Amino acid sequence: MTATAARKILVTNALPYANAALHLGHILEYTQSDIFVRFQKMRGHECYYMSADDAHGTAIMLRADERGVSPEQHIAEMKAIHQADFVDFHIGVDNYHSTHSEENREFAELIYQRLHAAGYIAEREITQAYDPDKGLFLADRYIKGSCPKCRAPGQYGDNCEVCSATYAATDLIDPVSVLSGAVPVEKASTHFFFKLPAFADFLKQWTRSGTIADEVANKLAEWLDSGLQEWDISRDAPYFGFEIPNAPGKYFYVWLDAPIGYMAAFKNFCDRTGVDFEEYWRADSQAELHHFIGKDIVNFHALFWPAMLDASGFRTPTKVAVHGFVTVDGQKMSKSRGTFINARSYLDHLDPEYLRYYYAAKLTARVEDVDLNLEDFVQKVNSDLVGKVVNIASRCAKFIHLHGGQLSANLAEPELWQRASGAAERIADHYETLNYSKAMREIMALADQANEYIAAREPWKLNKDPANAAAVVDICSMGINLFRVIATYLKPVLPQMVARAEQFLGDTLNWQSASAPLHNHRIAEFVPLMQRVDPAAVAAMVAANAAPAEPAALPSGPLADQPLAAEIGFDEFMKVDLRVAKIVAAQAVEGADKLLQLTLDIGGEQRNVFSGIKSSYAPEQLVGRLTVLVANLAPRKMRFGLSEGMVLAAGDDHGIYLLAPDSGAEPGQRIT
Ligand code: 2FM
Ligand code: ZN
Repeated sequence: MTATAARKILVTNALPYANAALHLGHILEYTQSDIFVRFQKMRGHECYYMSADDAHGTAIMLRADERGVSPEQHIAEMKAIHQADFVDFHIGVDNYHSTHSEENREFAELIYQRLHAAGYIAEREITQAYDPDKGLFLADRYIKGSCPKCRAPGQYGDNCEVCSATYAATDLIDPVSVLSGAVPVEKASTHFFFKLPAFADFLKQWTRSGTIADEVANKLAEWLDSGLQEWDISRDAPYFGFEIPNAPGKYFYVWLDAPIGYMAAFKNFCDRTGVDFEEYWRADSQAELHHFIGKDIVNFHALFWPAMLDASGFRTPTKVAVHGFVTVDGQKMSKSRGTFINARSYLDHLDPEYLRYYYAAKLTARVEDVDLNLEDFVQKVNSDLVGKVVNIASRCAKFIHLHGGQLSANLAEPELWQRASGAAERIADHYETLNYSKAMREIMALADQANEYIAAREPWKLNKDPANAAAVVDICSMGINLFRVIATYLKPVLPQMVARAEQFLGDTLNWQSASAPLHNHRIAEFVPLMQRVDPAAVAAMVAANAAPAEPAALPSGPLADQPLAAEIGFDEFMKVDLRVAKIVAAQAVEGADKLLQLTLDIGGEQRNVFSGIKSSYAPEQLVGRLTVLVANLAPRKMRFGLSEGMVLAAGDDHGIYLLAPDSGAEPGQRIT
């Protein structure tokens, strides 16, 4: 056991929305926290790991509607799907709950009432866009129109994907509700606000008290210094959530009760197990509270949440660990490239522990994106886990069994043992500080040393002479003991592989296992610990994900999110000059996330066009292809240069698909 006294640690993940399947980005975060929890438990600490589905909000209400089921049925089905994915990735949560639960309703009401009683809730009327057909207030993302700056059509919400302008959604030209196609109207209603500015001093201190990484605190300081705004915590009916006490028809905004879901999940767990809830949540709690989140939701966890907790008499988080996003082969995950990989699709093709190890090998304490390079993934898992770690055990086990199946009484190489055993605290420190990549590097360096030792002693040669039996057993016992230490260090990352190793070793590993070798100990028959990654399985997974986009894991109703535009006459249509264009060059645009710069040949004339198709196409995929250009669109001056026309593509949330004429069409031909 470690020298320090047992700590009490509560760990949470961001709660996934109950409206979509999990993807490999979710799995990154859950792997990061699961490793942390397994490590803490191995060290003998009292550590609980809580999660839940984030079940409220307009999007979930609309999704259920689209499917023709009640929100309750929809969230129950999604929860079961999410839970199965997590279980299969060996995410060992102690409780997986829901924000749509009685515990959560009680805590949300309690916290709200305390904020209210303390004078931290303001009430005032605001005016918002409203869909008169649907009878719903419209969040920005549900309004679409032409950009007020560059006039690009089909822009959602408050920013233009073409020219990057930001504006109020109400400034869009010809706005329509994405939900019904109706023209939004302005409508007033009363909202409730949390008086966040009252907590500015508290937050300035809290964000610099070791709770979050400096790089995140620096970002937050920009917001804190520029002045905090009151936070709108209410939404009007119809809404799927909890009604606000004494405010009929007003609901808590999903982000108000989402983090409270951490408390609810724990309360539900405590009620079933007898663990003391108060000990973890009272204002003067000595227990630790660690939240793991992505970089996109920092404001909710490092501003609103600690302020709410402080204001309502609960403890604040000990640490908020922030990670970056997952990229695949250096690019944002993309449906058309097959790299927007669902958790279930990964599981259909590959062993979850490959990914757990690969993520661990890449994760640092910094807020960096983690790139899943598929070639490197195959190479690294095969070389490190199969080639190095498993190899130690498989090489040594057979000689131990040839000579009775029992490890020797001697430690053949005490200095090498010391090096492996002595790394325990350093590696523990890497786990504790979330520098998993450093931990993996140290562990693999030990595996290299173990393999070098075995290679130098050549037990397979010595074994040819029966007189060397004792030496062979000594060498291979040394190898097995090194393997056992390495397996101990890898146990938080590879629980299944190490469970097989434990069976073979006849030993249950905890962190203390690294402190003393096994002597005169019988080992079981060697079982294959891990198969090599088959590159064909990776290719099959990518191909499966590149198949025509499936909206989500659940059956859906008719597509209602792209209603027809207003009718036009033939003459009006004929004003649009569409031409066959050949893409002769394509490149990324520095400083633009979504744009590619295309050089188009339209039959003796070249055009420069910026197109928002980067999320779905790599430049090299495009060169040589034919497409369709709106050739008489007035040139538009963009931040990056002049765009001379527009290429046609079909697109929605599921992907972007460039239009192309059949082969044989000539650049410059008019399309009618
Ligand atoms: O961003 C999201 O996916 C949210 N559902 C995370 C919520 S985390 C917590 F606050 F519940
Ligand atoms: Zn624009």
